[in-house]
Amino acid sequence: MIDESRPLRLALVGCGGRGIGVSREFQEHLKLARVTALYDVAAAGIERAKQAFPEATPCKSLEELGRREDVDAAFIATTDDTHVDCALALKPFKKHLLVEKPLAISIADCDRLVNGFAGERETVQMVGLCMRYNNAMQRVHQLVSNGMIGEILCADCIDHVSVGGTYYFHHWMSRRNKVIGLLLQKGCHSLDFISWVIGSKAARVHSFGGLDYYGGDEPAEKVCHECNEFADCSERQERFIQLDYVQKPQRKPDFCAYSREVDVNDNAVVNVLYESGAKLSYTECHFSPDYERKFCFIGTKGQIELSCPHGRAPEIAVSFRLRPGKVMRETVEMDPGGHQGGDPAMLREFVAAINERRKPLTDFAAGREGAVIAISAEESIESGQVVEVTDPDGTPRKVTRRKGRSRELSRTELLDRTPLYAKRAGG
Ligand SMILES: NC(=O)c1ccc[n+]([C@@H]2O[C@H](COP(=O)([O-])OP(=O)(O)OC[C@H]3O[C@@H](n4cnc5c(N)ncnc54)[C@H](O)[C@@H]3O)[C@@H](O)[C@H]2O)c1
Repeated sequence: MIDESRPLRLALVGCGGRGIGVSREFQEHLKLARVTALYDVAAAGIERAKQAFPEATPCKSLEELGRREDVDAAFIATTDDTHVDCALALKPFKKHLLVEKPLAISIADCDRLVNGFAGERETVQMVGLCMRYNNAMQRVHQLVSNGMIGEILCADCIDHVSVGGTYYFHHWMSRRNKVIGLLLQKGCHSLDFISWVIGSKAARVHSFGGLDYYGGDEPAEKVCHECNEFADCSERQERFIQLDYVQKPQRKPDFCAYSREVDVNDNAVVNVLYESGAKLSYTECHFSPDYERKFCFIGTKGQIELSCPHGRAPEIAVSFRLRPGKVMRETVEMDPGGHQGGDPAMLREFVAAINERRKPLTDFAAGREGAVIAISAEESIESGQVVEVTDPDGTPRKVTRRKGRSRELSRTELLDRTPLYAKRAGG
């Protein structure tokens, strides 16, 4: 039984900002883990992590780390293109795995991971889709599961990222070979949440996107701190930046955002058709003035809107088709911790899944779903075609379409006067 008296013995694989930040939260705030081993391909990474976790043992290879008996679980927080190889390399050693999002940067790699762990029941395998665990997203899922708006038939979402330049366009996250695209690197959180709420899997994806604001012809080696245009550059980057998911300012690379190496799209619109017949329209923009996510789910009985402005409490509004005067508004109190409480709740779920010997809410199969939409969207931007999504075993997905679904609901039911919070599943 893992608890504060017997914390999880954790190996950190990938000792960058995220790896160290989350491991600290796990060890110092939750006190549910103790970092016992470290691995990073870069000496600087190990050096950083040693400062944070002086008692942890640096390892020279994943194999050496896997063989350690003082390791129960590994947190893989390497760059996106390496998650799958790291996880598979640790598989023979039977460690519980928490892999950062996105699961992988290709569908083939997602499937290699999901299929590779298909028969593995002794350990917990989880993807770090932390947003799903925050109070606002949990609440929306709960309302939908309770039947509040009926069956979801369509949804839309905007993901506006005013900090896109700072967060993505000065380092590896702006390079396609490392991330495929920001729909995956950033958008996988929203896409994961939406698919979870809709309760269906994507069957077809289409997208338009472009690199219209960042990118250019500047040389690859150009950096902000040596640039003579720094004083008047709208996208200049300081050496230390404050990210919203770590507590202290971090020293990050400051490669030019107008470099010819920048090749990910900075805005895109995506359409998704789910197996259930539900449709999604998703827009992501990395040069908006606002930093905000907004979701709207429309069901057979009503709609739920969730607005998540950065730095302020999220708001939920529920309205009903036949009762225009009735609107339920709720401001969601978020918990402390990274990602507005999403990080600690995710870490608690990891420990609970280990203790209860069950699958976590965001297992590898769930991690694949959000990633698949984003990767298919990038493919569609390139080809101009609609991309058909398959299951991990290659089975094509079929879309169910049923007309006249409102006929399944009586007027009496839609005018239901039961207090909102008394409703239960199917009600
Ligand atoms: N959940 C979230 O919202 C969230 C937020 C930030 C980052 N992340 C994810 O966390 C991961 C790390 O992001 P970061 O910002 O810390 O990046 P980073 O560049 O600061 O750190 C990555 C570290 O991984 C190391 N590394 C790369 N390949 C490796 C390999 N094969 N084996 C061992 N070490 C390797 C690098 O040397 C570096 O120290 C990424 O997958 C990113 O998508 C998730």
